[in-house]
Amino acid sequence: MNNKVNIFDTTLRDGEQAAGGSLNLQEKLDIARQLEKLGVDIIEAGFPASSPGDFEAVKLIAREVRQPVICALTRAHPKDVESAWAAVKGAERPRIHIFLSTSDIHLIHQLKKNRDEILAMAREMVAKAKKYTSDIEFSPMDASRTRPQYLYQILEEVITAGATTVNIPDTVGYAIPEEFGRLIAGIFKNVPNIDKAVVSAHCHNDLGLAVANSLAAVKNGARQVECTINGIGERAGNASMEEIVMAIATRKDLFNLTTGVDTRQIYKTSRMVSELTGFPVQPNKAIVGANAFRHESGIHQDGVIKMPITYEIIDPRSVGIPSSKLVLGKLSGRHAFKEHLAEQGYSLNEEDLNRAFAAFKELADKKKSVTDRDIESLLAEERRTVTEVYHLDRIQATCGDCGMATAAVRLIDPKGKACEDAALGTGPVDAVYKAINRIVGVPNSLTEFSVKSVTEGIDAIGEVLIRIEADGVSYTGRGADTDIIVSSAKAYMNALNRMLSSRLRTG
Ligand code: KIV
Ligand code: ZN
Repeated sequence: MNNKVNIFDTTLRDGEQAAGGSLNLQEKLDIARQLEKLGVDIIEAGFPASSPGDFEAVKLIAREVRQPVICALTRAHPKDVESAWAAVKGAERPRIHIFLSTSDIHLIHQLKKNRDEILAMAREMVAKAKKYTSDIEFSPMDASRTRPQYLYQILEEVITAGATTVNIPDTVGYAIPEEFGRLIAGIFKNVPNIDKAVVSAHCHNDLGLAVANSLAAVKNGARQVECTINGIGERAGNASMEEIVMAIATRKDLFNLTTGVDTRQIYKTSRMVSELTGFPVQPNKAIVGANAFRHESGIHQDGVIKMPITYEIIDPRSVGIPSSKLVLGKLSGRHAFKEHLAEQGYSLNEEDLNRAFAAFKELADKKKSVTDRDIESLLAEERRTVTEVYHLDRIQATCGDCGMATAAVRLIDPKGKACEDAALGTGPVDAVYKAINRIVGVPNSLTEFSVKSVTEGIDAIGEVLIRIEADGVSYTGRGADTDIIVSSAKAYMNALNRMLSSRLRTG
């Protein structure tokens, strides 16, 4: 049996379905490009029939990202299949992924169809999609709660109709690893034409077992796993890509398998997805969490200094974790800055480099030591300012325990005009947000606000993450600065700009 496991990344489809996640077109393309660098085999770019935004994203990614297979998801409905094809057909290697529920629970309570009707729909839609492209994936949704005999039958029939990948979803995260492994083994044993298709696993994390179930599937012959960066996705999320890939790499002795992933790109991809979706990574998250390679206990620290392997099963550099050591200082020149970025895998055009260098100099003036983490935060901040409708030009706030908090702001409006206003608030952040609202004038409510420091020390950069809601749609915003009131203002402007630019796009 082939010993390569294909990594099917569904961050842009199942990951984006997570509550509160909303990526714009450019952000989806940026993530897809980074996934290509990471070396995933298949990118599920979206569900074209679900919204015009998804359609456009699949179309754009299909055109621009040429290395991986680009996949479009569709229900088993003729119009949806046509829409999936219309969106993905420009890809170098297009795939259509059809899903249809097969468990009695879904058939009785949701689809209100009998098993024969479902079999006919599955066969017909796979055959229809096959006329467009040879690469067809079929998912019997809620497979882990489907009667095994029926599952075998539908898999056999869709493979006969042309499916080249059969994906086994644990849609509600109900399975237990041993059981899920047995299900995959049962499929190999009981589906006569299974050698004509790749078996895939798609596990959700409702019981915290998505990665364990995916690995059990791989152990039993699955050669594709569907996963997301940082494990984001519906409810408790999907299986986390970085955990699956690193488990396979670290326990080669047990799996004897490989993936095509360049593990040194993992950390950067994780940060980018967290940054753009606004879903923070929990500190104790395996592989990419802030504490994943931090040793607090004296005994562990002693061991790691003597020989890292004593308490470290993965070299942090192998997943691209940037060092928190001093890397550049206030006297570093543009050339050194550029070289350092290149070493870290960033390639910026001249204009972006000039802006980033100016921001670096400003930071180096405020902060004694500039680390890789600071630089990463600074580059993210630069990316954020590109899609501005209103630009935050000046901000001043006063606060304390014996007076009203006040703030004055100056914004540059879309016509380039400077607009100034001031407000009182319950605290400086409230005052700043009220002053901004007086200028921008779009009603919204703040649903989330959090602040964290990028590195240790009193002069550390503070990163603020906020979520605002307007007309039932949620928008995230981030801002970073050594002054957390300024970070808060930047985060709010970032969220407002996302809201305003998406409204401009949809007319
Ligand atoms: O969880 C699920 O069943 C899915 C399918 C669409 C594959 O996401
Ligand atoms: Zn799913």
